[in-house]
Amino acid sequence: MPNKDAILSFEDLEIHFTLRGQILRAIRGVSLDVARGEALAIVGESGSGKSVFTKSAMGLLDANGSIAGGHIWYDGKDLAAYRTEKEWLTIRGKEIAMVMQDPMTSLNPLKTVGDQILEAVLLHQGLRGEAARQAVLEALAAVGIDDAPRRYRQYPHEFSGGMRQRVVIAIAVACRPKILICDEPTTALDVTIQAQILDLIKQLQKKLDLTTIYITHDLGVVANVADRIAVMYAGDIVEVGRCEEVFYDPKHPYTWALLSSLPQLGVKGQELYSIKGTPPNLFQEVKGDAFAPRNPRALNIDFVERPPFFEVSPTHKARTWLLDPRAPKVEPPELIRHLRQQGGSRHV
Ligand SMILES: Nc1ncnc2c1ncn2[C@@H]1O[C@H](COP(=O)(O)OP(=O)(O)OP(=O)(O)O)[C@@H](O)[C@H]1O
Ligand SMILES: [Mg+2]
Repeated sequence: MPNKDAILSFEDLEIHFTLRGQILRAIRGVSLDVARGEALAIVGESGSGKSVFTKSAMGLLDANGSIAGGHIWYDGKDLAAYRTEKEWLTIRGKEIAMVMQDPMTSLNPLKTVGDQILEAVLLHQGLRGEAARQAVLEALAAVGIDDAPRRYRQYPHEFSGGMRQRVVIAIAVACRPKILICDEPTTALDVTIQAQILDLIKQLQKKLDLTTIYITHDLGVVANVADRIAVMYAGDIVEVGRCEEVFYDPKHPYTWALLSSLPQLGVKGQELYSIKGTPPNLFQEVKGDAFAPRNPRALNIDFVERPPFFEVSPTHKARTWLLDPRAPKVEPPELIRHLRQQGGSRHV
């Protein structure tokens, strides 16, 4: 049953892709509650399933993919049971909107920016004529685009990358969604612009009372935006907690590895840590803890049985046998112990 406090609730979600007659298990029984009004970050390596997981809540899986089990609860409805475009159009854009990595692919190069925002305003805000035009100008201003009347008539190619991403965000929020999913919205942008876009999303979240899900493979980026972090590995969420819990008291060896590879934590003159090995092949059955083969501290049981979630605090849990009371004491790497000592006194 759905959790009443959650705006969106994934329950035992399974997503499969069929490729040349073989089945790839992209999401392997994942449960996650997204709380109303929160900013949640989903982090993990490339291919871990971040995009597939969130796209499933908008009916945007590729044609060879399907929800093979579980539920996606939203507003009392199970979206996992949706089959038709007609059903999805009641959700997509309207209730849950997404900002993708590359703004150029989400914008129509042949239409002015103003007209593209106008479409969303006409469709979702029920405004017409001059009132609709005003709403577009306000939307442009709200995402920090100056000189809105002139910008209204321009085409996407006349905008810089950062400005285009602002337009995409303006379109998304013009639909008045309750949930905004940002899938790597800043990876194509340089660092200063990245920070500005993050700030913008944060501002809009407050102003419009949005719930945001923020996808990135860069843990460093989320420290300033998210209330909570979910760490994804090989189609599973292996740790979830409040930002400071995951940063300063991480429990899963994969989270240790991910944090250790943060450039911000690197020691000058020493080579930056990188996670050895590759993620498992999801065409094959994954035994035990999927990270075990890459984990120098793996226990025997990690290769045999999939760990359950162990609770660290009411808001923090991790899927690792290290948290089993019977487990031997395994110290995290020095870098992680060091973080813990700092205990929140420093921003990552
Ligand atoms: N249409 C598809 N057919 C087959 N496999 C797919 C398809 N789409 C995604 N996958 C697989 O599903 C898994 C998860 O992919 P996903 O795109 O969600 O990763 P991601 O975490 O978003 O990675 P990135 O950080 O690179 O965006 C990967 O193994 C990917 O190869
Ligand atoms: Mg992705």
